[in-house]
Amino acid sequence: LNLILYGPPASGKTTVGRALARRLGREFVDTDEAIEARVGTSIPNLFATRGEAAFREIESAVCRDLARRNGLVIACGGGALLNTDNRATLEATGRVICLSADPAELLKRMNGGSGRPLLAGSDPAARLAQLLEARRALYESFALRVDTTGKSIEEVVDRIVSMTSPTVFRIEEPTAYEILLGHGLLDQLPDLCHARDIRPPSVVVTDDNVAPLHGESIAEAIGACLIRVPAGEVHKTLDTIRLLYAAFLDAGVERGATVAALGGGVIGDMTGFAAATYLRGVKWINLPTTLLAMVDASIGGKTGVDLPQGKNLVGAFHMPALVVADLDRLATLPADELRSGMAEVVKAGIIGDGQLFHRLSALPELTVDADIIARAIAVKVAIVQADPFERTGERAKLNLGHTIGHGVEAASGFRLKHGEAIAVGLVAEACIAERMGLAVPGLEDRMVAALQRIDLPIDCPGLPVDAIRAAMSTDKKKQDRRLKFALPVRVGEVVTGVEVDEALLIEVLKEIAHAR
Ligand SMILES: NC(=O)c1ccc[n+]([C@@H]2O[C@H](COP(=O)([O-])OP(=O)(O)OC[C@H]3O[C@@H](n4cnc5c(N)ncnc54)[C@H](O)[C@@H]3O)[C@@H](O)[C@H]2O)c1
Ligand SMILES: [Zn+2]
Repeated sequence: LNLILYGPPASGKTTVGRALARRLGREFVDTDEAIEARVGTSIPNLFATRGEAAFREIESAVCRDLARRNGLVIACGGGALLNTDNRATLEATGRVICLSADPAELLKRMNGGSGRPLLAGSDPAARLAQLLEARRALYESFALRVDTTGKSIEEVVDRIVSMTSPTVFRIEEPTAYEILLGHGLLDQLPDLCHARDIRPPSVVVTDDNVAPLHGESIAEAIGACLIRVPAGEVHKTLDTIRLLYAAFLDAGVERGATVAALGGGVIGDMTGFAAATYLRGVKWINLPTTLLAMVDASIGGKTGVDLPQGKNLVGAFHMPALVVADLDRLATLPADELRSGMAEVVKAGIIGDGQLFHRLSALPELTVDADIIARAIAVKVAIVQADPFERTGERAKLNLGHTIGHGVEAASGFRLKHGEAIAVGLVAEACIAERMGLAVPGLEDRMVAALQRIDLPIDCPGLPVDAIRAAMSTDKKKQDRRLKFALPVRVGEVVTGVEVDEALLIEVLKEIAHAR
């Protein structure tokens, strides 16, 4: 497959193309240079001596030649793809990535237009605006687009790489599906589905927050019906599931159809559950848009809703047919949601990836990147593979920080975000593990340092200890009425099924609540 860079003048086709080719170890070809090589003279000269028609003919011949080759990075001259034959020829063996930038930045990169024949004249800005307008529909017709405004060449290259070759995680048990992670992926959803023999979704379920940001445009682009439900955990109920069933019926969702969840863990859990039960089960794909959903909730096929008596009390295992985590969607996520999701990333590091934990411990500020997310996904993938139905205890490792964390979350009346409560739980459980002699000394301090770097809380001053303790007991994960903890041993190692002495537990809860 060739990668073809296209876009307005100064959008970076050639510079980015060279860097991309270097990164991928591919050969780079610039169509204008190829034309000049073919005729043995410069393009302006060719225009002057033989006219535009001759130039276009040679351009088409060059396109046909390049399309016959494979594995190239091609920077495509501005006029080349105006010709639909050229486009079809090149797209038969390649993918076009259309670069863009703000007009002001384009002009700046072109030194105000000097030396660009297309912009010749007294008002280059106006000429450029005209050109952009005339070609707008063409530019927008490419599924893969990268706005290069304010981005370094390396950043643009990163983005193109993850668009064209996302990181792929494969789950085999109990049914096979893939988790794709990369930039710009939701712009190519139908292709991603077709390539896996999945019918593109006929409905997209999302919440009120995500609908205007991402849902409407995605549903429109793929011709699906958008179903929106109110946002938030309080709506993760059977009442909302009933609404989903009705909306599926309205939209004519049949047995062979696919439904999509677009949103955080709440939308994923509910849509998956509705898909598990509607018509005794239809296919679903999960398009997580929060960090927490990308690294945790979207992986492993657990679906369900809350009851008034407790969280996640009703549900089913129903594996998605595909998970697509599009990093670009995190751009709109509020910082506190990002921070909350980071608690699960820290958890993943402690459970199974020391390097991830070290990276987090060295973060200058709250930042996530593809590598951090990929590492966290890999930890969860390995665990759900080893224990798809939560039978062997392997999956219990994921409860790290959650036994106490859930208690803290509930006792705060859900004032604390899930990830904030988990951060507190991680610290408290590390403290318990150290005092029991299970964990290496200093582990708690290291966890505190990592969590503080991302501005996550490490204690919950003032929360009533009996309320935390009571809320822990209604955790559905308790077995035999006795709490079983997952406790950290060192970074990268966790033990499960540990019973904790009640007096020690209360002592530590008092410490995190600063109670006497
Ligand atoms: N199934 C599992 O294995 C599993 C694992 C962990 C958690 N969960 C569940 O996940 C849920 C928590 O998930 P969550 O933290 O994603 O909560 P969420 O779905 O409520 O999303 C958090 C908030 O972010 C908003 N949002 C989502 N994407 C956005 C975006 N790109 N831009 C702007 N706003 C956006 C949402 O509207 C919501 O207000 C809980 O219900 C939990 O039980 C499930
Ligand atoms: Zn969690």
